Amino acid sequence: MAKLRFMILLLLFSSVFSVDFLFNSFTNVKNLTLINDAHIDGSVIRMTNDSNQYSYGRVFYPTKLPMKPISSFSTTFIFSILPQIPTSPGFGLAFLLCNTTSPPDALASQYFGLFNNFPSVFPLIAVEFDTGQNPEFNDIDDNHIGIDLNNIESINATPAGYYNSSAAFFPLRMRTGQNIRAWIDFDGENFEFNVTIAPIGISRPSIPTLSYKNPIIANYISSDMYFGFSASKTNWIEAQRVLAWSFSDSGPARDLNTTNLPVFQPESSSSSFSGGAIAGIVVGCVVFVLICASVFYLWGRHIKGKEEEEDEIEDWELEYWPHRFSYEELSAATGEFRRDNLLGSGGFGRVYRGILLNKTQVAVKCVNHDSKQGLREFMAEISSMGRLQHKNLVQMRGWCRKGNELMLVYDYMPNGSLNKWVFDNPEKLLGWEQRRRILVDVAEGLNYLHHGWDQVVIHRDVKSSNILLDAEMRGRLGDFGLAKLYQHGEVPNTTRVVGTLGYLAPELATVTAPTSASDVYSFGVVLLEVACGRRPIETSVAEEEVVLIDWVRDLYAKGCATEAADARIQGEFDLRDMEMVLKLGLACCHPDPQRRPTMKEVVALLLGEDLPEAPGKVLSDLVRGGGDDGELGEEAPLQSLPPV
Ligand SMILES: *[C@@H]1O[C@H](CO)[C@@H](O)[C@H](O)[C@H]1NC(C)=O
Ligand SMILES: *[C@@H]1O[C@H](CO)[C@@H](O)[C@H](O)[C@H]1NC(C)=O
Ligand SMILES: *[C@@H]1O[C@H](CO)[C@@H](O)[C@H](O)[C@H]1NC(C)=O
Ligand SMILES: *[C@@H]1O[C@H](CO)[C@@H](O)[C@H](O)[C@H]1NC(C)=O
Ligand SMILES: *[C@@H]1O[C@H](CO)[C@@H](O)[C@H](O)[C@H]1NC(C)=O
Ligand SMILES: *[C@@H]1O[C@H](CO)[C@@H](O)[C@H](O)[C@H]1NC(C)=O
Repeated sequence: MAKLRFMILLLLFSSVFSVDFLFNSFTNVKNLTLINDAHIDGSVIRMTNDSNQYSYGRVFYPTKLPMKPISSFSTTFIFSILPQIPTSPGFGLAFLLCNTTSPPDALASQYFGLFNNFPSVFPLIAVEFDTGQNPEFNDIDDNHIGIDLNNIESINATPAGYYNSSAAFFPLRMRTGQNIRAWIDFDGENFEFNVTIAPIGISRPSIPTLSYKNPIIANYISSDMYFGFSASKTNWIEAQRVLAWSFSDSGPARDLNTTNLPVFQPESSSSSFSGGAIAGIVVGCVVFVLICASVFYLWGRHIKGKEEEEDEIEDWELEYWPHRFSYEELSAATGEFRRDNLLGSGGFGRVYRGILLNKTQVAVKCVNHDSKQGLREFMAEISSMGRLQHKNLVQMRGWCRKGNELMLVYDYMPNGSLNKWVFDNPEKLLGWEQRRRILVDVAEGLNYLHHGWDQVVIHRDVKSSNILLDAEMRGRLGDFGLAKLYQHGEVPNTTRVVGTLGYLAPELATVTAPTSASDVYSFGVVLLEVACGRRPIETSVAEEEVVLIDWVRDLYAKGCATEAADARIQGEFDLRDMEMVLKLGLACCHPDPQRRPTMKEVVALLLGEDLPEAPGKVLSDLVRGGGDDGELGEEAPLQSLPPV
């Protein structure tokens, strides 16, 4: 009798405390927790909503998984990631454990809808299946699996693929729409993750794709955690689907039934029946013509007996401007692009420090691009920019192309970028006088781009990390025009939107073409962040202070704008001057592009010069130390952040 009672108790316990389920399809499944845009679409879970510009979705099992003192689990699922445009930026999806279903810092648009671009404080463990390369976070490639601990930057990552039993590696592209089966095993005693993937039809590989064992995982576990999937997207459509899922915390997860799974393919290959026949004929003809053409082409080349190599210099490259470095030269200068010469990696690629044969120090920026056509147009652009010379621009020395990789050679800026001197806990904090001078420098550089050249050059990505400091600590604007590379038709293969969140003018959400007024907006954000000593979006502060512009504007409306000034340099500045800079920042960030000052006016104001004639109303108000009449645009709330 006692034994029976014990058995019942045990049964009760195990049914309460163990989690074990199997979904071979999600048809009529009602009890999963679907967050935001995640929804059940027929028999599968769809993570994002194509109609929304910024979209994220998460799906969780309804109950939490007890994780302490020790819990191990095993899960297997089938996913499919299908982009609408194969060359668009990739996003991917993540399996996660978190003690909340709404990680507080998550962005709606990027980073799997889980993270921001800084480490979070919530216990959050994600296994990412990443289909985009984000050099900013040292992504190894655009098709990898990684372990993320409270941070979008993976602590461990490996290219996606699988091993056969004799340890030969087979890469597996995850962004083709094909159904992929994944297995994740977690050993809570040894803090070890094994992640394995394989296409349907390949039985479970015995060697995991990724194996990561580290006791620090313990720091990211809370007593119980929700578990499930998360994904996000920006303007580009990527359908992330989960087709089946099984899970167990008391032994290996049960096998999924992989027969009769739905198949998702790129749109072009699924034409309707009658259209299909016509399309077939057309495609057939085109293929035939192409084959003929290529046969003739190859034959022609053969006759000429000329061996053309991909990296050979092409005619158009010679038309362009100053100095074309050889790859060997740059490779030697940077010690074969050695890691310890890496100065940083930003949205556009990696930057290495190099020393040329003549002992000049340079910075070599490597930009990846996947279309030669775009590259060619871009070179036309950049070559004219190579002729731009101004004391407040980072001078370009030359360039080099290898395959689709473009290397741009710039003067080396020994003091790094402005943000490192102003935010967080810089080794040495910049004083107000230096900050003020750097702001004038940058305004002059931008003014030169806008007005000093026969055509207007739009920078497109003005921000404090693109402002570099030379040996004299003078400010110079870098990276001008680079953003344009990503707007020549082809979309970049990174999860980055062109321009940087927090600095983007609101009209760019609806109007596509950046203008000098949108540069002025970004410069306004720089004015504010340098004066206030904080990032445009700071999530570690009180809610009303998160978006810098909104906060300063609110204070301005209350007549106490200078309360926003960086407290660490209190006493160094003249209050009226600080107020002028803050107001100018707000004027530049006016929601209506027409009412922002021009860079010419900005420079004049910063220098305390007389204004050119017919200054905008906003400015005349500023000069007169004008009234708080709402001119700085309180009426229109800024859309500085996509909704989260
Ligand atoms: C959710 O529903 C499925 C059947 O659709 C069932 O097997 C499972 O036990 C349910 N889970 C919970 C937590 O209710
Ligand atoms: C996707 O978003 C659109 C617009 O926000 C909405 O109308 C639609 O219902 C959503 N679709 C799903 C499946 O949630
Ligand atoms: C999640 O963990 C954090 C940090 O340990 C804690 O502050 C928070 O209260 C927890 N939230 C929940 C819902 O358990
Ligand atoms: C694994 O793949 C390699 C390379 O294709 C092949 O040579 C080897 O025989 C394979 N091993 C097994 C056990 O199939
Ligand atoms: C992970 O894989 C390694 C190597 O195959 C194996 O020794 C280890 O037991 C596995 N751990 C888990 C948690 O599955
Ligand atoms: C898998 O599902 C199919 C139907 O979709 C069914 O005919 C088959 O028996 C299932 N296999 C197993 C092992 O349950």
